[in-house]
Amino acid sequence: MPQPLAAAHRDAYATDVYAGLTHSPQKELPSKYLYDSIGSSLFEVITHLPEYGLTRAEERILQSHADEMCSRVGPVGLVAELGSGSGRKTRLLLQACARHRPITYYPIEISPTALAQCEGELAGLASVKVVGLEHDYLQGLQEAAAQRTDEAPLWVLFLGSTIGNFSRTAAVRFLRGIRKLLRPGDALLFGADLEKPAWQLLTAYDDPLGVTASFNLNMLGRINRELGANFDLTNFKHEARINGKERAVEMHLRAMVNHDVRIPGAGLPCVTFTAGETIWTEISHKYQAEELIDMAGHAGFTSAGQWIDPQWLFAETLLRAT
Ligand code: TRP
Repeated sequence: MPQPLAAAHRDAYATDVYAGLTHSPQKELPSKYLYDSIGSSLFEVITHLPEYGLTRAEERILQSHADEMCSRVGPVGLVAELGSGSGRKTRLLLQACARHRPITYYPIEISPTALAQCEGELAGLASVKVVGLEHDYLQGLQEAAAQRTDEAPLWVLFLGSTIGNFSRTAAVRFLRGIRKLLRPGDALLFGADLEKPAWQLLTAYDDPLGVTASFNLNMLGRINRELGANFDLTNFKHEARINGKERAVEMHLRAMVNHDVRIPGAGLPCVTFTAGETIWTEISHKYQAEELIDMAGHAGFTSAGQWIDPQWLFAETLLRAT
């Protein structure tokens, strides 16, 4: 059985579901709720799909450049990661860092399942102590930063292009939020997917095997499981579309028939869906490489390097807090 959220997080979940599904005219659900244990497993499958080249691109960059990145950052004591994922990519960086001195690694995650999985995956690494923090990103980072015992820099990892799930303005605001918790000399490494042709993006976010469709539909399955709702998943269809103005891909769930849904756990006795209307579940912005450095500059960082995978345009950007 999927593990339910802790009480405080469950209240926030119910509140967000209420706000999102009463939002007019466009119903929406925050993308962070895609990742319960089923969603995290489905996303892990997505990262192996030939059409979704993003994760493998980032892995190739880290495989080739982790050592160089670590040397540029210097001898870190603490590494904090916003969103732990499966730990596969992080392993490369932690191994490279721990060659210089023992480190403590803080994966930060609101999903207890994802956190446990990451802790399991990285527990055996030599000279790496793993301390999971079940928090929102910035709250977790604040806690990790409070654990410093010396002058060694703190290194924050924000991998996998999660930054793309914020609007461009919110992304800069978020980077500034990270910067506020850091000291000069601390570092941030973040991944971001770059602009590419529409056909490539559309198959990446709507694969022929239907894994992404299942991943997106699980958003409703989770509401059924955790908030006692009666969504019939067959009434909805996954949809990926290009938003040219925002330079982004959007994910929606389109209602195929007129119908009502009950969500007792969110205090919603009747949510009405009209055939054709959608619930907006995710936006994934695509960037130009230089734009990322500009954004970071506005947030109080300078660039310490940028690596781009030529096979699937993806950028890993290393920043230093100034
Ligand atoms: N953060 C990932 C991305 O933007 C998540 C993702 C991949 C996703 N495929 C998806 C989210 C489909 C919703 C639907 O690339």
